[in-house]
Amino acid sequence: MNALETTIYQLVRERNLPNASLAALLETANADALLFSAADTVRRQVYGDEVYIRGLIEFTNYCKNNCYYCGIRRDNQAAVRYRLDKEEILACCTEGYALGFRTFVLQGGEDPFYTDERICEIVSAIRGAFPDCAITLSIGEKSKESYLAYYNAGANRYLLRHETADAAHYGKLHPETMRLQTRKECLFHLKEIGYQVGSGFMVGSPYQTTQNLVADLRFLQELQPDMIGIGPYLRHGETPFRAFSNGSLPLTLRLIAVLRLMFPHALIPATTALGTIHPEGREMGLKAGANVVMPNLSPVSTRKLYDLYDNKICTGDEAAECRRCLEQRVAAAGYRIVTAVGDVKKEV
Ligand code: 5AD
Ligand code: FES
Repeated sequence: MNALETTIYQLVRERNLPNASLAALLETANADALLFSAADTVRRQVYGDEVYIRGLIEFTNYCKNNCYYCGIRRDNQAAVRYRLDKEEILACCTEGYALGFRTFVLQGGEDPFYTDERICEIVSAIRGAFPDCAITLSIGEKSKESYLAYYNAGANRYLLRHETADAAHYGKLHPETMRLQTRKECLFHLKEIGYQVGSGFMVGSPYQTTQNLVADLRFLQELQPDMIGIGPYLRHGETPFRAFSNGSLPLTLRLIAVLRLMFPHALIPATTALGTIHPEGREMGLKAGANVVMPNLSPVSTRKLYDLYDNKICTGDEAAECRRCLEQRVAAAGYRIVTAVGDVKKEV
């Protein structure tokens, strides 16, 4: 056995590695075949061949933040802004429910129009109409009181990527007003309240080093999230980062596999960004250990406007088309979409 193989077996056994070994594993393609197959084995031990689907509803692209990488940042004057009202959101859920979705993810920019009262009203309406579904929010940094109010209204999951766990790197991706510390506090508040929490990061964001990625893995070990979403950084022509190139597909896949081995029970999506960087990126993600896909339920009329990065896939497709398309893609990759709420499986 060579050194890399030994490293992978150690990672499988101990769900952990020293920093130097993690870095070495991330920086080589030589062990990818073994790494991906080990991740797939572990994924099948915990989740079998099941793939959970989440219906993503991008309900506002207004954002008060100005993250340098993001296409819907406040200062992007070229962005055409939109908001969905409660009825439009409920219509997305109704359509999604009929297509077999049992999780709705409400994602948006940090849009002050949606006060806590409005968010709670929307969440309660969904909770009332779809009592057997999970409601996931992904609306950024809020106070613990706000998070608690949404939870009491019926939300039970929350996605908030930490983006990078290195404070200096965080400072290069975000304006002064945003702090890694705040982001981390939000994540711990969400856990304390009882949400199933998802975090994650971009792969290949500007200035990112392998050491930063190791720090991301260490932070996730500390947080112990239920969901971990990662995807390649993708350029958007109307951001300050327009001159930087896209993140790497192989490195993203390697990280998915490493995450599966470090967090056997985690819900790990094959993200839209993966599908954007390569036509079969999501299938590759599934084969490297991912077990969730998150197709879009937003109305086609506003789809294109939720423009985080250039060339985003599925912007012209009706929800039903994406559902069918994914059914085929997931099956071709050797897995099976299930109609289930798809909670995280806990260690027994
Ligand atoms: N490339 C890839 N991912 C991006 N996100 C935002 N902008 C980009 C981009 N340019 C990701 C962030 C955010 C999630 C909703 O989308 O990680 O948390
Ligand atoms: Fe949207 Fe394939 S998943 S068209």
